[in-house]
Amino acid sequence: MNWDDAPADTPDRLVGSAADREDQAVEAALRPKELDEFIGQERVRQQLDLVLKAARQRGATADHVLLSGAPGLGKTTLSMIIAAEMSAPIRITSGPAIQHAGDLAAILSSLTEGEVLFLDEIHRMSRPAEEMLYMAMEDFRVDVIVGKGPGATAIPLELPPFTLVGATTRAGLLPPPLRDRFGFTGHMEFYAPAELERVVHRSAGLLDVAIDTDGAAEIAGRSRGTPRIANRLLRRVRDYAQVRADGAVTRETAARALEVYEVDARGLDRLDRAVLHALLKLFGGGPVGLSTLAVAVGEERETVEEVAEPFLVREGLLARTPRGRVATPAAWSHLGLVPPPQGGGTSQGGPGQTGLFGA
Ligand SMILES: Nc1ncnc2c1ncn2[C@@H]1O[C@H](COP(=O)(O)OP(=O)(O)OP(=O)(O)O)[C@@H](O)[C@H]1O
Ligand SMILES: [Mg+2]
Repeated sequence: MNWDDAPADTPDRLVGSAADREDQAVEAALRPKELDEFIGQERVRQQLDLVLKAARQRGATADHVLLSGAPGLGKTTLSMIIAAEMSAPIRITSGPAIQHAGDLAAILSSLTEGEVLFLDEIHRMSRPAEEMLYMAMEDFRVDVIVGKGPGATAIPLELPPFTLVGATTRAGLLPPPLRDRFGFTGHMEFYAPAELERVVHRSAGLLDVAIDTDGAAEIAGRSRGTPRIANRLLRRVRDYAQVRADGAVTRETAARALEVYEVDARGLDRLDRAVLHALLKLFGGGPVGLSTLAVAVGEERETVEEVAEPFLVREGLLARTPRGRVATPAAWSHLGLVPPPQGGGTSQGGPGQTGLFGA
């Protein structure tokens, strides 16, 4: 799957997948530390297990690894696990932090043998740095340019063998020569509800929150396939359970808490529901143009397109067609509305006729 149209950044949304400040503060404590503790992603985990075990048996440094997938699925977590499994130190940097090839040369030349270099948002690295990285990955060598102009000379510098772990939400943006230099690419998928349930249970244990099976299932079902969101919702539910109940999380407390935060049973929030509501109630399910839809919900075009729509499309509630946005039958039933008869005009009738932002 292609994340090139993943929501640009949604830091202030309870169901946004990018890390907010609070996430950053608590995530370190919730990260699984070894491969066996890492929940789900069966295929990637198995493949990675083989790559790492084989390298360990050979006493060699592991091949370079590329991890791609939507925000919050565990790329940073896995990179740290790779270092831990190889008993190697890890150096963490990111594409945007490397402005010049010199920045990268400085990092590369200070690596120790077997060290893991984690390069987050690798698709955002500058072109000259990227070209330096090609040679470093392949030959464990960089050319350091000394001097300027016609007198400049390239001095080759040997590097100790290291493992590059690159992470990207946009694998499609990586130039093929870079992609080809990774020995292993792991594509992270969204998590199944049962897997997220295990994530919630595990995190609740670490946070010392009492939770039962149904409570964990309720949170998992609203977490959009994303562990980061599951952990965030768990924290909000914990607050609610502590203030309004006896602290224990049951299905009922979880559902009531997330109702307060306007996250519905399927993980849609206020914006998602407003978009669906407008599409169904004002435009009879579409097709309607994006701009018209955006005006109807009082949001920017980009907000509707980049923040709300990707999840609605993924959930099969909305389709983007050449003629405009169209609601699916699932959208009508999710909002408790009855679609108009085939060929009918704007929706009239149907149960639950409430205001645009109601229900
Ligand atoms: N498989 C998993 N099992 C348990 N917890 C997980 C798993 N994957 C992710 N998490 C939790 O989700 C949080 C977010 O994961 P992580 O930071 O690794 O995501 P990411 O893919 O690096 O996101 P981004 O693209 O925003 O950098 C972590 O704190 C971790 O606790
Ligand atoms: Mg990350």
